[in-house]
Amino acid sequence: MVNVLFVCLGNICRSPMAEAVFQQLVNEAGLADKILVDSAGTGAWHVGEAAHVGTRRVLAQHGITYTGRARQVNAQDLSSSTYLIAMDSENISDLRHRFGDHPRLYRLLDFATQTTERDVPDPYYSGGFDYVYGLVVDGCRGLLATIRAKEGL
Ligand code: 4NP
Repeated sequence: MVNVLFVCLGNICRSPMAEAVFQQLVNEAGLADKILVDSAGTGAWHVGEAAHVGTRRVLAQHGITYTGRARQVNAQDLSSSTYLIAMDSENISDLRHRFGDHPRLYRLLDFATQTTERDVPDPYYSGGFDYVYGLVVDGCRGLLATIRAKEGL
């Protein structure tokens, strides 16, 4: 089983969006029994909350329902994740600072092909959920292609 964990700051905007989009791509590829998808936040402020209404709205506009609840990343996640996919450089620094390095820790947009952005901007304060959605889809497509190639799926 390949475990993919998406990480952002609050686990209510970007990483739940990435989790939901990536899960849909995995389902469409018929790989749901091979690739496990989850998300978590480096911070604990929103633990237990549903995803931000902006994330749920943009997902719903694309036919995706998301019912996950926010949780904080923990040491067990680091050992059980095959791919640890952060939304921005700050998430990467936070993860390294708290848990040390991980052999497959990347930013989602390292896998994107349609943008020069490498950090997914945080829509929590300034909005832009539609723009973030486009970036997330781009990164998730590239990530799935990479995982399929690397894992022989
Ligand atoms: P996320 O967005 O990391 O994409 O879930 C945020 C959500 C909440 C906060 C910051 C970013 N916050 O400071 O509460």
